[in-house]
Amino acid sequence: MSTPFHPIPQNGPVMIEAHELTERYGDTTAVHSLSFTLVPGTVTGFLGPNGGGKSTTMRIIMGTGPAGVGHRHLTRGRDARGQRDHHARRETMSSRTQHALRTMKAITQHRYGGLDTLDYETVPRPVAAKDEILIRVQGASINAADWLLMQGEPFVSRLAFGLRWPKVSTRGRDVAGVIEAVGDNVRRFSVGDEVYAEVDAGSFAEYTVAQAKRLAHKPSQISFGEAAAVPIAATTALQGVRDVAKIKPGDKVLINGASGGVGSFAVQLAKARGAEVTGVCSTANLEFVRSLGADHVIDYTGENFTTGEARYDVIFDLVGNRSLAQCRRGLTRRGTLVLASGNGGRVLGPIRRMVAAMLLSMFVTQNLRPLAAVASGADLEVLREHIEAGAITPTVDRSYPLAETTEAIRYFVEEHARGKITITVTTHNDTKEQHE
Ligand SMILES: NC(=O)c1ccc[n+]([C@@H]2O[C@H](COP(=O)([O-])OP(=O)(O)OC[C@H]3O[C@@H](n4cnc5c(N)ncnc54)[C@H](OP(=O)(O)O)[C@@H]3O)[C@@H](O)[C@H]2O)c1
Repeated sequence: MSTPFHPIPQNGPVMIEAHELTERYGDTTAVHSLSFTLVPGTVTGFLGPNGGGKSTTMRIIMGTGPAGVGHRHLTRGRDARGQRDHHARRETMSSRTQHALRTMKAITQHRYGGLDTLDYETVPRPVAAKDEILIRVQGASINAADWLLMQGEPFVSRLAFGLRWPKVSTRGRDVAGVIEAVGDNVRRFSVGDEVYAEVDAGSFAEYTVAQAKRLAHKPSQISFGEAAAVPIAATTALQGVRDVAKIKPGDKVLINGASGGVGSFAVQLAKARGAEVTGVCSTANLEFVRSLGADHVIDYTGENFTTGEARYDVIFDLVGNRSLAQCRRGLTRRGTLVLASGNGGRVLGPIRRMVAAMLLSMFVTQNLRPLAAVASGADLEVLREHIEAGAITPTVDRSYPLAETTEAIRYFVEEHARGKITITVTTHNDTKEQHE
């Protein structure tokens, strides 16, 4: 090896070249393309070969940014029959390509606030840790959680997400895409798999990392955009319908907020369990909720579901615009109220109402149950089966390119969407880029 390793700077990307690197894999192993993820400081021990013999060329690029930077490299050696590859040559990547391989476009936020706090920036690409997976994002979707996190509300949530500004600056939680790299401990997934997941943060970007346990294979017959509409909304609906309400055939179920992201899945899942479903929404969305399978619809602009004659075995509340006392009036004697939201002010948000419901539940015959949905790869597998069986279908009201995510969030907050709003993400396939 004529050129060993250059020192690695502590604050910037570096390209390390090792010329005439000895082929350490022996005569019968093809070494055409190698791909590494390097952690700053570990590279010397990783390469290590010495001595002469059959040589090839290797070039490694790595960075020392805060998130670490992944890289890939093409090298040529011998093929499986031990014949020298006639095309063996030094690959020289332009500095523009090197930059593209280390970075990505993302929607970021560096201080809490409204839509004007969002930026569309070039940032370092994330790298998957041992139990994580790097996903090349194809689709993402907007959730109420994104809007709340942007504003840092309720304030109590800042204990987890950052007291004065967001700890993680890239926004977005729902993702569907293609696996780009897997961590050392990941067994169930491989590079190239089509997947969907809820991530902690960072799906409004060209690449994101997900914990393997939160990931599932994408339903085969739907697009990436439709798949991205599923994780948070459908998991919340599933856990509410199945685990909290325990809906069974013949139950009379009312879903308050039936036309939104969670509600549109809840109507379909309750119907799939044999319930008689009433959906509550605005006038413009009544037909949409009927089309999801609801047996009855109530227009909240003209009717209050808590003051009518009907009594429900389950009320799944996704709006929080009626008091606990009003909701109880709409329930049967042993009915269940599932609370997924509530307006408890900027400090505690829905928590106040949920705690009040749990306390009250100890003294009344009805079940008043809060729902705090948990991201789960196992539940995404269940939902995949439901989607592939045709029992539920994601509804995408409209889709926006990544650069227009701010407008997508504005639409979500202000325009009473039917079902979900999604983000379409297009990235270069860098493996292809390098071979070209
Ligand atoms: N606890 C959890 O784990 C969890 C998880 C996910 C979501 N959530 C919560 O669940 C709620 C729904 O989320 P989402 O994603 O489905 O939101 P979404 O898509 O915005 O849907 C909101 C629903 O509320 C209805 N609505 C809006 N204004 C209303 C009003 N003034 N009166 C009555 N209904 C009204 C909408 O009907 P129209 O559009 O027809 O007006 C729509 O059906 C949010 O509060 C969210 O924070 C909780």
